[in-house]
Amino acid sequence: MEYRGYDSAGIGLVDDGLSVFKQVGLVSGLDIPESTTQTCGIGHTRWSTHGKPTDANAHPHTDCSGRVAVVHNGIIGNYDELRTTLSDHEFTSETDTEVVAHLLEVELERTDDLREAVSAVVAQIEGSYALGVVAAGYDGIIAARRNSPLVVGHGSDGNFIASDVTPLLAHTRSVSYLEDGDIAQVTREGVTIWQDGKPIDRERHTIEWSPDAAEKGGYDHYMLKEIHEQPTALRQAIAGRINGIEEGVDLSDLSLSEEFLASIDEIQFVACGTSYHACLYAKQLIEEFADVRATVEFASEYSIGSGRDPERTLVVGVSQSGETADTLRALRMAHRVGIRTLGVTNTVGSTMARECDDALYIRAGPEIGVAATKTFASQIIVLAMFALTVAETRGELDVTAGRELRRNLQGLPGAVQGVLNQNEDIKAVAEAYADGEAFFFIGRRLGGPVSLEGALKLKEISYDHAEGFPAGELKHGPLALVTEETPVLAILTDGTRPEETQNNVKEVQARGAPVIAIAADGYRGGHDVEFEVPDLGLLEPLVANVYLQLFAYHVANSKGRAIDKPRNLAKSVTVE
Ligand code: F6R
Repeated sequence: MEYRGYDSAGIGLVDDGLSVFKQVGLVSGLDIPESTTQTCGIGHTRWSTHGKPTDANAHPHTDCSGRVAVVHNGIIGNYDELRTTLSDHEFTSETDTEVVAHLLEVELERTDDLREAVSAVVAQIEGSYALGVVAAGYDGIIAARRNSPLVVGHGSDGNFIASDVTPLLAHTRSVSYLEDGDIAQVTREGVTIWQDGKPIDRERHTIEWSPDAAEKGGYDHYMLKEIHEQPTALRQAIAGRINGIEEGVDLSDLSLSEEFLASIDEIQFVACGTSYHACLYAKQLIEEFADVRATVEFASEYSIGSGRDPERTLVVGVSQSGETADTLRALRMAHRVGIRTLGVTNTVGSTMARECDDALYIRAGPEIGVAATKTFASQIIVLAMFALTVAETRGELDVTAGRELRRNLQGLPGAVQGVLNQNEDIKAVAEAYADGEAFFFIGRRLGGPVSLEGALKLKEISYDHAEGFPAGELKHGPLALVTEETPVLAILTDGTRPEETQNNVKEVQARGAPVIAIAADGYRGGHDVEFEVPDLGLLEPLVANVYLQLFAYHVANSKGRAIDKPRNLAKSVTVE
């Protein structure tokens, strides 16, 4: 689970006693004696919310008697208040989680049944939690969830809990997703789930991802592997949805009615980070093809806004993980006022997929590197197919434009492969410019989101200062930062108004900045470095993005950065 957090790690193992091993740093740093024989336990990798990364703040947390151990994802909002009811307990960490261990200690004085104790404790908690609990002398794990993902894995040689399916793949592909309010008892022999005190069946799902999809497969980093997986991921996203250039898109997994799609007057996208950039791209495609107003908001900033008719609005949440708390919050807000919601995600069974009225999967396969790469491209092409569907339903689809987009969608995996084949050249350029003081990325229209994404990738894995701008904005301020030491990466392709961006390139060149142009035919010549983008219409910026991904990767790698686990970040941010 390290890609979900890696400030500190720990495990708690039980039989008649409890052994806890935890410390700051990676799982590989945990010092677990070879003589350990316990076979039931819980583990956790932490992304700090309350309290710094320290050994004491690492999970599991224990009670005063050292009988109970707890791991927790989420935030317990009323932990301060609960702590004041436990004045005779000695707390050893600054976390919100520790309060759960102490509350369990109190409950276990009343009952011997760990499930009953957990049930009594969660009734007192406000906020979000996925909890795993073990206690000395008690067989199995008790798990509980509210607003934080939790999956049960059914194996042939034991059963599991995890907050994501990926780590289960090495053990089993048979899983059940816990619902809010569920409490599960997981032992070697079986799994029992309760809701409101009554046993309940949760459907078993088979995960299609192969176990080795979550391995590095010979690459130095997951990120590099995932960049290289893009042609396959894109083909998977298109498979069965585009069956020929002359045929319409088949998004039959989408159950939005034609009447509804025809009636809407706004599509509001909500997302965070890279997924937000994918939405900025998709918005332009929707407006171009379907002639319907599309807006994009940071999920963490979302409010319904004024002047909207809930009946004629569709909110589309886009999230690789399907678990990003900010995005889920925005979708729930929309749902509450009666707006229909669509989740576009990579993760079958995720909270987003289950809570939205409709779900559309991007089928990119597991993404482990913290920096999102293949899922960005997959999100955009799934949203491009959605744009074609909306356009067709509304009778807005221009036949020639539709045919061209379908042709380009089919051509995209090959074009991306063409960029991947130049990995060594891109590496050489990245290393030559790696010492830049800062890096600027510019592009217009569809080049805008790609510039933002290029800068985000570089800053998050190399820790260098990087900014993306709509090219025309440069002269309104950021140009002050441009010097001979600030490489500028410019997107000059179809869909990015390259003629106008060329003027902005001249402006930075006049200040001595080296320019790396990612350019289609007709826009190369006169730059320090030039990378070629093949003819692919409105998907050309997406091809350009692959150059930027490899550029960021090689800059960061040349500096020896922790590429798959950049400092301070986590893959799925399940807190607001
Ligand atoms: C950047 C990155 C993040 C995520 C963001 C949203 O490389 O990975 O910016 O894109 O946290 O995550 P999802 O898509 O899972 O909602």
